[in-house]
Amino acid sequence: MTDLIQIGLGPWGTDWAAKIIPQLADARVTGWVDASPEARAAFAAATGADPDTMFATVREALEATGAVAAIAPVAIGAHAAVARQVLEAGAHLLLEKPFALDAATARELAGLAEERGLVFGIDQNYRIFPGAPVVRDLLERQAVGTVRRVSLEWHRDHRGVRDSNSLVELAIHHFDLMRYLFGREGAAITCVPVSPVRSAQDRTPGASLIVELDGGITVDYVLSSQGIDAQTPWPGVWRISGDEGLIRWGAAPDDHRAVSITDAAGNVSAVEVPELPLFERAGVLRAFIDAVEGSGAPTSPAADNAHSVAMLEAALTSARTGERTRVERW
Ligand SMILES: NC(=O)c1ccc[n+]([C@@H]2O[C@H](COP(=O)([O-])OP(=O)(O)OC[C@H]3O[C@@H](n4cnc5c(N)ncnc54)[C@H](O)[C@@H]3O)[C@@H](O)[C@H]2O)c1
Repeated sequence: MTDLIQIGLGPWGTDWAAKIIPQLADARVTGWVDASPEARAAFAAATGADPDTMFATVREALEATGAVAAIAPVAIGAHAAVARQVLEAGAHLLLEKPFALDAATARELAGLAEERGLVFGIDQNYRIFPGAPVVRDLLERQAVGTVRRVSLEWHRDHRGVRDSNSLVELAIHHFDLMRYLFGREGAAITCVPVSPVRSAQDRTPGASLIVELDGGITVDYVLSSQGIDAQTPWPGVWRISGDEGLIRWGAAPDDHRAVSITDAAGNVSAVEVPELPLFERAGVLRAFIDAVEGSGAPTSPAADNAHSVAMLEAALTSARTGERTRVERW
């Protein structure tokens, strides 16, 4: 049994506690942390958590429980401080996305975990939708030949996204999926947000982006939470056109399983998408617990995820300056 503490008891932390943790029989949360007394009370009312297992700080929770690891669905503004507290206390960490808002912070925190020999993963859960490894495998096998054109559309009428900085909340998932699917790093990003974004704290309900990846692949990416249209699935609707065919992944309304290939003659064949043993966050948590217990690695190790953060940072800079912005590399 692996004992954990959970930091962050807001809406998403409540969802983790109610729906995700119970899926793993060998993981147990023995301490619940939130800086806000109101959030702790609301969480206790929603989940029935014992008030004696609830704490205001990471330090108190780790000391009281002796837990070796933490999961942190905590407010974005607290990610860096919470990560530092957990890692400096010598505990392994699974942190929600976006890991950080700039690559320098992400690199520094990933380095801290490495120095101390700690497992540090990021919950970039869109990689654990069943279509993702299928499309990645098709691209690795060059199933449609040389890729010439890629488009990604995300549209959902979703208040949480509309009232947030959608680049920070959502585009980080899609930048990370681009790196995962194509096995290439981001090169440069041009971002036109729906409303002005001068900092990561400014809200914007969507954006149009041109994302350049290494090796000359360009993704036309539209992120939208306004206007009438069918809902795309969370990972979006992808069209990847090569010399020998077209891969489609995802379909509106809300079908994340649909993967097909259209050949040069226009014949469409469905591609089989096997179920994953555990879906999205549960799969992320499974790999994290296994890594803490000494086998394998998290699905998105922090050191790797720092490159997805670099894409987010470039998008935010481009949104602010109006310029095509290079993605930082190291
Ligand atoms: N992976 C996904 O698909 C997905 C979906 C939704 C949300 N998220 C992420 O989950 C995280 C939490 O989302 P939310 O909507 O519940 O956030 P939120 O802004 O409601 O914050 C969650 C909690 O963090 C607490 N908190 C803030 N600073 C703290 C600190 N220093 N120490 C302890 N607690 C602190 C707040 O009191 C709050 O109760 C965010 O990082 C968000 O991006 C991920």
